[in-house]
This record gives sequence, C-alpha cells and structure tokens, in this order.
Amino acid sequence: MSNNWSVNQLNHLEIGEVDVLELVKNYGTPLYVMDESKIRKQCKTFLNGFQHHIVKTEIIYASKAFLNLSMCELIKEEGLSLDVVSGGEMFTAIHSGFPVSKIFFHGNNKSVEELKMALEHRIGTIVIDNADEFNRLSLLVEKDRKIRVMLRINPGIDAHTHEYIRTTKNDSKFGVSIFDPKTLFLIQLIHNHPSFDFVGFHSHIGSQIFEENSFKELAVTNLKYCAHIQKQLGIEVKELNLGGGFGAHYTNEDHPFSLETFLPKILDTIHQESIGLGIKTPKILIEPGRAIVAEAGYTLYTISGTKETFGGKNFVFVDGSMADHIRTALYQAKYNASLGNRMMDKVEKNYTVTGKACETGDIIIKDIMLPIPKENDLLVVYSTGAYHYSMSSNYNRLLKPAVVFASNGKTKLVVKRETYQDLLRSDIRLGK
Ligand SMILES: Cc1ncc(COP(=O)(O)O)c(C=O)c1O
Repeated sequence: MSNNWSVNQLNHLEIGEVDVLELVKNYGTPLYVMDESKIRKQCKTFLNGFQHHIVKTEIIYASKAFLNLSMCELIKEEGLSLDVVSGGEMFTAIHSGFPVSKIFFHGNNKSVEELKMALEHRIGTIVIDNADEFNRLSLLVEKDRKIRVMLRINPGIDAHTHEYIRTTKNDSKFGVSIFDPKTLFLIQLIHNHPSFDFVGFHSHIGSQIFEENSFKELAVTNLKYCAHIQKQLGIEVKELNLGGGFGAHYTNEDHPFSLETFLPKILDTIHQESIGLGIKTPKILIEPGRAIVAEAGYTLYTISGTKETFGGKNFVFVDGSMADHIRTALYQAKYNASLGNRMMDKVEKNYTVTGKACETGDIIIKDIMLPIPKENDLLVVYSTGAYHYSMSSNYNRLLKPAVVFASNGKTKLVVKRETYQDLLRSDIRLGK
C-alpha cells in the first residue's frame, strides 16, 4: 500500500473521496481520519496472499494498532481473527460482538482478573507468556473444560528495526527463550496438563520490519525448534504463529516489501522446510497490525501560527500535540505532511511541526518542507493509522481527537471527540 491520495480542483486533499475541508467543517481538528476502503483492501491483501494449497493459514489483526467498536466490526466483516493484549481490548472486542473463538489473548503480564475474564468469556486462544503465567492460569482453569493455548517463544532473532519495537533479543520481556533448557520442561508441563489443549508456538520479532529475510529466518528457526520438540518430547506442534511486524510506508526512506509476492512465497518456504525437517507443516498464523491500518490513517491539524527562533529554527504550531502523536517522541519516527488546503502550492521552507504540550520533545515532525504556512491552514500528517489513536493520552489535559471513517465520498464518526466533561468523568473531589 502507498499514499495514493488525490487532490481535487480546489487544490484540496481528498481522503476516501471526501474533501479534507469538508471533514474539518463537520468534525473539527485535530482529527483522525481513516480511509475505510484502504483498511478493507489491506485485509483482503493479507487474506488473498496468505494462502497455500497445502498449508493451513490464519490472519489475526493485532488490535493494539487501532481498536474501537467499529474497527472490531470491520475486522469481523473481513473475516480476520483478532489479537488482544489487555482486559480493555478484550472487553471492546466482546462488546462489539466479535466471535470469541477467533480472539487470541496475548501479553507478557496478564493479571488474574484478565485471565478470569478470558476464561469466563471463552476466549478462543490464550497465549501463555512464561512459566509464572502457566502456574497462574493452571489455578484458574476448570477440570472439565479444555483451554486452547499457545506458548510465546523467543527465537533470539534480531529484526532490523528500532530497539523499542524489537522484541526477540535474548533479554526481551516477552516469551521464553528457545535456548533456555527450562523451556522444554515448560512445554512438557503445558502439553501434559489435562485442562490445556497445547496447539503450538507464538513469536513476534518486532515492528516496522522491511527485510523479508527477518521473517524467513524467524520461520526457519521456529520450524527447526518444532522439529526439535517433536524429537525430544514427542509433541507435534500443530500451529505456528509468526506474529506481525510488516513494515508500512511513512516517508520515502521506508521501503515495505510487496505482500502480494512475499506472503505466498514464505508459505512455500515453510512447507519445503517442514518437509526437509521431516515434520508435518504446521498451520501458519500471522498477526499484522500496522500494515493493515497505518497508511489508511491521516491526522488533520489546524495551523495556529509559526515562529522563527533567535537561533534560526522555524516552528509551525498546530492544535494537537504529542498526546495525539507520540511516535516521534517515542521512537524518533519520521512522517510526511502537506498543507491539505493548498496541496499543489510550492514547498519553500523547512519546518519543525510542534504542538501544544509543555515538553520540548513535543515534536510531530522534526523536518518537513512546506509552503509558507498561514494561520488556519490545514496540516495533514500521513500514515497515522497505527499506534496513534491507540497510543493517545490526555497529557496536559488535552482532549483526544475524534476518529472518522471516510470512504466512497461518505463519512462516519466512529469515536467522538472528548469533551472537558469527559476529563472529569473519573475524578473524585476531596470533598472538604
Ligand atoms: C504479539 C504481537 N503481535 C502483533 C503485533 C503487531 O505488530 P505490527 O503492528 O508491527 O504488525 C505486535 C506489536 O507489538 C505484537 O506485540
């Protein structure tokens, strides 16, 4: 997927065939806009591409990237499964009517309450993270019911991505290492437990990965481990979840590989490798989050002004902040943007886009060439569909923006803009 936006005769950007100024007029700024057709198209790319004449497959949407009731409904309609990592994500999915049998419950630190919730609602699969969690879950399960479980393993693969979104180094907080002899013992315990139906392994090596080889290495390492388990413990690994991490396009520095080519190819590799290892090819699951929603998302901000500092730096001020756009501060992530109301105007100057939060690190884009911005121009930041709305906060008691779906010239409000009253919803007065 790439940023194939269109510009109308008024020199305005259109998202889902809706003029951005129309969106601003109806919903205000800051505003998250999701091109619904792009999300659906990307779901279909995964579903159609990740197919093999022999290998069984399943696509699970990693809801941490972007979740709300409408998104659950969309994912259900498109036929994907859902990955949740907290009671809150699980609650949203259950509340939306998402089929519980298609929910995978992940997380390295699930609470007893969350585990009880998963059991009570008959969540399809619980992905056990470690021995401690296995013990905790064992105390909660009922004798006469089998729970489908996987074990998160850490294959020690170094994905070439930012350290904070890389997850399988040997000291990662996620999963159990395949190099740790204790892991064999844990697998045996899970497999032999009468209340658990142990189906296989899960792993996830990181996010925003551009190298096909990282996934290939992951698949091959995991398959070798499956063969090892079969030989050592006599346990057949029926399912292998390779996680998410497929890269998205934010700026021209990003080069995501073609999913259409890669997805069938990796299944072929997996099948051949399994034959070579003498094991039955497990069902293969993947868990994309970012690649499904990132490029479908846009954040719309109103420009309030500019400032040239004494040191010669040029700032553009917008009506949002790191509270609705944290990835630049968190990972030094880079973004592209345009003036949505002056799309074809000549870019003239380099700016740093900053917002309203009281932090020097409140940077939305560090370096961006723009036409000279005027007050009330509209800044549109591209590829903000993943880990933006879901990571937003109320820092400085700023209000979270609304979320709107746009497609085929129509819009639908899916998350209301917060109000000042919402900020007080959970506050309790001292009462003196
Ligand atoms: C277990 C797991 N699966 C899937 C994902 C989705 O990753 P991405 O959004 O990069 O596809 C993550 C992201 O952190 C994850 O932790």
